[in-house]
Amino acid sequence: MSTAEAAIRTHGLGRQFAGRWAVRDLDLSVRPGELYGFLGQNGAGKTTTLRMLTGLLRPSAGTLQIAGLDHLRHGRALKQRLGFVPDTPPLYDYLTGRQYVALVASLWHTDRARRDERCERLFALLDLAAVADDLCKGYSHGMKKKLHLAAVLTTAPQVLLLDEPTTGLDPLSTRRLKELLREQCRGGTTVLLSTHVLDVAEQICDRVGILHDGTLCAEGTVAELRAQHGGRSLEDVFVQTTGGTIDGPAAG
Ligand SMILES: Nc1ncnc2c1ncn2[C@@H]1O[C@H](COP(=O)(O)OP(=O)(O)O)[C@@H](O)[C@H]1O
Ligand SMILES: [Mg+2]
Repeated sequence: MSTAEAAIRTHGLGRQFAGRWAVRDLDLSVRPGELYGFLGQNGAGKTTTLRMLTGLLRPSAGTLQIAGLDHLRHGRALKQRLGFVPDTPPLYDYLTGRQYVALVASLWHTDRARRDERCERLFALLDLAAVADDLCKGYSHGMKKKLHLAAVLTTAPQVLLLDEPTTGLDPLSTRRLKELLREQCRGGTTVLLSTHVLDVAEQICDRVGILHDGTLCAEGTVAELRAQHGGRSLEDVFVQTTGGTIDGPAAG
């Protein structure tokens, strides 16, 4: 894939903290409209990678491009094309859900009529309509994540990054989120998410990458990774790839 074709591309990307590499020599290439899942144990480097991609964290090494734009030369234009849903969204306690969406949309210069139309649909889909005029202060963790996702999607990002998007969500919301992310990809948005939840990876990701100790140690479709490991389950592949051992016969 050429640089122009990739929606997200990194080359030799790395970040050190206090002399220790949290992410090392990462080469990543995600196609437009692809849904890519980052899997990894706690501390594997998933959040660090996402924060570098968003521009919140400066890389110690390597290069990155989003939608063909280099992070050093075109940082502002790059950020305009990005949406980021962090693990803990930065909401304002004393804004209502609807006011928060309006604030984010105005920062992105989103047309008001489009904002309202998208916002209403997303609120209904994510089961936020009943609390839309309540202060964010009273929202649960899952509601905060859904609200921030709705706000970000109102800006119609070209590339959407999500850090552990299902954490704190109930099963129905998780299902709606999965459908929504697939729908975004069908519409041409590129989605990169990190998750601990292997079901999410199996059900919706076109490709997954397994990060271990800051290094991308396996990558492919779930079917490819399973085939490379004798047809074992994704859970077994994950455990083996990240240094664990598994017992028992091969899973079907
Ligand atoms: N701001 C920071 N300062 C120091 N170390 C950090 C910082 N952020 C992350 N790390 C370290 O980098 C490693 C990767 O962390 P992180 O990217 O948060 O992993 P993950 O999201 O996969 O759980 C961990 O060892 C973590 O302690
Ligand atoms: Mg993390």
